[in-house]
Amino acid sequence: MLRSPSPQSRSQQQLATKNVSPPTTPVSCFGAYLSAPTAPYEGADFTIYSSGRPGGGGLGEGGDSDVIRTTSRFPVLLLACSPKDLKVTSKCVMQAAAKVMKVFVTRRIPPEGMKILSAAGECEVCLWDSDEPVPREELLKGVQRAHGLVCLLSDKIDAEVLDAAGPNLKVISTMSVGFDHMALDEIQKRGIRVGYTPDVLTDATAELTVALLLATARRLPEGVEEVKNGGWSSWKPLWLCGYGLSGSTVGIIGLGRIGLAIARRLMPFGAKRLLYTGRAAKAHAAEVNGEFVPLDTLVSESDFIVVSCSLSPETQGLCDKPFFSKMKSTAVFINSSRGAVVNQDDLYEALSSGQIAAAGLDVTTPEPLPTNHPLLTLKNCVVLPHIGSATYSTRGVMSALVARNLLGGLRGTEMPSELTF
Ligand code: NDP
Ligand code: DGY
Repeated sequence: MLRSPSPQSRSQQQLATKNVSPPTTPVSCFGAYLSAPTAPYEGADFTIYSSGRPGGGGLGEGGDSDVIRTTSRFPVLLLACSPKDLKVTSKCVMQAAAKVMKVFVTRRIPPEGMKILSAAGECEVCLWDSDEPVPREELLKGVQRAHGLVCLLSDKIDAEVLDAAGPNLKVISTMSVGFDHMALDEIQKRGIRVGYTPDVLTDATAELTVALLLATARRLPEGVEEVKNGGWSSWKPLWLCGYGLSGSTVGIIGLGRIGLAIARRLMPFGAKRLLYTGRAAKAHAAEVNGEFVPLDTLVSESDFIVVSCSLSPETQGLCDKPFFSKMKSTAVFINSSRGAVVNQDDLYEALSSGQIAAAGLDVTTPEPLPTNHPLLTLKNCVVLPHIGSATYSTRGVMSALVARNLLGGLRGTEMPSELTF
């Protein structure tokens, strides 16, 4: 297996494959960086650039393939091939490279997805090799002439990005179920297909939402803080009391995949009624004895309100001053959908004035929420850093689905989860 050599011997890491014996196995190069990309492929020089990461074995370490990266910050080009494939002639590599399509990946994603792209051997993958978002100008550069784009919810995919990509772009695969970061009208105009990640993150997100609800209603962060700061003097009958689910009315705004999964988890805690709103009543609501009610009814009758709808022009700012003023003063508000569904100034007002009891937010506007934001000064507001789907296995499965969606779009075949719009 090809290993990533140490950074000290970088010049030796460039393996010129020209004039090597012809391969006995099919070439499965998945990404290729041509030293003269615009020249005719036939007979051109070809160089494999390797990682230069100390001890870095690449994504294929331990498997039968390997991934080699450039050390350059941008673009980062991946090359994956089986050990045998290193014995290829430049001509074979050129032919493989001539067929590959360019894919730009805007962030490091879990290895599951990268392995699938590698194994497919059909695309040259340019990765923004960082855990932090790609700067806008690098996104605009990186996407140029791409056939496929893998993006995250933090990447705004608008007309400017699509124009920068140009006419090659066939598919956008987002590692999220939410798609409010993408200008769907512009995407549709250009005939670009979109893949997303519904279902696979439903359980993780519902679980986190329930955890946030319990933490907020039972004041767990406050309790933990009191233990640490010496505020815990004795067991006190009226100290750190909160609100329990038993006998309560739960209202869910948006009983979709995640909303239903939240309801399924909350009912066994002893909730008495389950109200929900949406654009239409849902047949699956019967499973949780859900009552489809007008928004005002849900807001005024619920002890716990959970927002799990998608963000759209219709839901933007839905939870505002009039909304909070209709809530019970003992009610708890939870949002794990998108920050923009909530008017945060109005929420601050409702929380600080005692209009409502508490709020738990997994999503905010902006993200990250500035550390000096007024909401963070409130004991009755629990804010999490958008971790609804953050389990190792869920993120791995999301990554794999992203890769499969992308490949379906590149090949012009079925995508496992294609957004229809
Ligand atoms: P679904 O499409 O299954 O559900 C979305 C729901 O929103 C639908 O039931 C829809 O109802 C409802 N909705 C749309 N418009 C309105 C409206 N005006 N009023 C009330 N409800 C409305 O998506 P998922 O359940 O899979 O995901 C929901 C959202 O959760 C995502 O869009 C994303 O923003 C967020 N999310 C957040 C995560 C996190 O980490 N915090 C993780 C994953 C997702 P109807 O069908 O009647 O229109
Ligand atoms: C999504 O998928 O939309 C979430 O916000 C992140 O998993």
